[in-house]
Amino acid sequence: MVPIVTIDGPSGSGKGALSRTLAKKKKWNYLDSGLIYRCFAYLSSEGFENIEEEINNIEHSYDENFEEINFNGNKITNIIRGPDISILSSELSQKIDVRERLLLIQKSYLREPGLVAEGRDMSTRVFPDSKVKIFLTANIDERVNRRANQLRNAGQKVNISKLKSEIEARDFKDSNREVSPLKESKDSFHIDNTSKSVEETLEVIEELINERY
Ligand code: DC
Repeated sequence: MVPIVTIDGPSGSGKGALSRTLAKKKKWNYLDSGLIYRCFAYLSSEGFENIEEEINNIEHSYDENFEEINFNGNKITNIIRGPDISILSSELSQKIDVRERLLLIQKSYLREPGLVAEGRDMSTRVFPDSKVKIFLTANIDERVNRRANQLRNAGQKVNISKLKSEIEARDFKDSNREVSPLKESKDSFHIDNTSKSVEETLEVIEELINERY
């Protein structure tokens, strides 16, 4: 069986940096499922209908703390990570037909030698057979600060109280929607990383990987 680590959690919980660092370290494939939803939102806002095919033309290059997203030669990182696509992707992700359409694309990331998959329903729906399921959280102010830093690094202006209410609203929507809500699975390992470094959290996860695979 191809080893899978699934990492679910709310926005700003640190899933991104953690998953990317782990995937690079293990030389495993990496699925940022939120990015798939964001690409879907972007492509539908641009009027594309054959979205499943167009998604393949989106290029994602990343490092632990850096990323660039290109589509047909244009850099779309700021649009994809910006507030409009954040809201639209959260809205579209509530539709069952959208979730169905994106399921196979997400599953196709499962290839040798292993996969790190991050999102909201990786452990509960997309890869329920994963033997290492992590539910990652951090307190809201820490999550707002992390997101603010990401946006500042991308050259955007940040209004902290506005950002906090946007994140709270999106958390509420993501956790309370009918289909595949963000929910802690019974067999997942809960990690609050508010005051943990990426390295400390990684250590815990790598121990689980060595034990279970
Ligand atoms: O992780 P993110 O903020 O980039 O995700 C964008 C939106 O996509 C988020 O508001 C909820 C949705 N999403 C989802 O419904 N299921 C996932 N597995 C990942 C993201």
